[in-house]
Amino acid sequence: MGAEADLLRRQVARFEAGHPGLRVELRPTPDSADRRHQLFVQWLAAFAPDPDVLQLDVIWVPEFAAAGWIAPLPDALASDTDQLPEALRSATWRGRRFAVPWFVDIGVLYWRTDLLPRPPATLSELHRRAVELRDEAGLRYGLVWQGARYEGLVTVFVEYLGACGGRVLDDAGRVVLDGPGGLCAFRLLREAIDSGAVPTEALAWREEPVRLAFQAGQAVFMRNWPYAAALLRDPKESRVADRFAVGTVPRERPGGRPTAALGGASLAVNARSDVPAAAFELVAFLTAPEQMAERARVLGHLPPRPSLYRGDHLAGAFDAPPEAVLARIRAARSRPVTPLYSELSRALQTHLHRLLSGQADPEEALDRAAAELRRILRRAGLGARPAAELQGG
Ligand code: GLC
Repeated sequence: MGAEADLLRRQVARFEAGHPGLRVELRPTPDSADRRHQLFVQWLAAFAPDPDVLQLDVIWVPEFAAAGWIAPLPDALASDTDQLPEALRSATWRGRRFAVPWFVDIGVLYWRTDLLPRPPATLSELHRRAVELRDEAGLRYGLVWQGARYEGLVTVFVEYLGACGGRVLDDAGRVVLDGPGGLCAFRLLREAIDSGAVPTEALAWREEPVRLAFQAGQAVFMRNWPYAAALLRDPKESRVADRFAVGTVPRERPGGRPTAALGGASLAVNARSDVPAAAFELVAFLTAPEQMAERARVLGHLPPRPSLYRGDHLAGAFDAPPEAVLARIRAARSRPVTPLYSELSRALQTHLHRLLSGQADPEEALDRAAAELRRILRRAGLGARPAAELQGG
């Protein structure tokens, strides 16, 4: 994206100015998490020595570390304590740190303040209001979210699942997806489409089409990441610049809670890099508090360093006081931390998408999804191992 690439270029130019003799080349990658994953796997599985520094989605670090594709952090970086525990957990594999958290993402609900003062208290009500307000206001869409068959759909699902009080794996690493919470979430997702609250177009949408629909004033509600807020506020690009607010995706029933999926990116160094020391220096520079605070102010990206939420480093960066944002991040829910994550996710994506597109009923889709997750864990010999092992320590 434009603003993000511009900021990175500026920061890299500052790094180069302070490191005569080092040149940094930026390589563009696809926006979509899955396409980026595919590209990285191609590079790394072929033992390419570059790119030297990799921007990894938080869910990939254990997989890449277990494959031997990324280098463990040198002591200076590995002993950095100003890190959010959840972000750190996803950057750690078998007790060693392999990546430095760069920014965190939490799933948020955007709504149109000219159409309703505050968002509904449950997901069912959210769906109902989406349809009513869409019709009253003559908009095209009620609620828009990421419904394409890719990682973003899993993050939407994690939020519905939390709202219903369900989980994918329990603390012992066993699949508990097909409990009552899972059924509630699968039913709700299907209802979102069947009731027309979420348009069928969304079954092909990733983050950007979702943002563009909301930004064009076509939707009452949107589920997306914080990056969208800075763009929605720009009156030159956005038709909703001064009439939207950001909150949490609501819960559904007692036992469930308002849930935000925890995402984000970490920086890691290619294990085959020819210049690992320089690569780690760049990682240290980009993840230093100054650069992170600037990312927050310019892009609205949430820094994974707790210290930045004290004082006025982040003044004006968010729509809420920094302590409130930090509390939301701390309450957000991680996806399973395991080298098998990509496989688990692909299985979920398939069954969730079949559910949404009407090819399977909620009960059938849920049974099949849970059975497939169990098969994946069993095949890897992790069927009944404790979570500590599944999660690398
Ligand atoms: C965002 C999140 C990432 C997530 C992806 C899904 O990029 O930071 O963690 O996997 O969206 O589309």
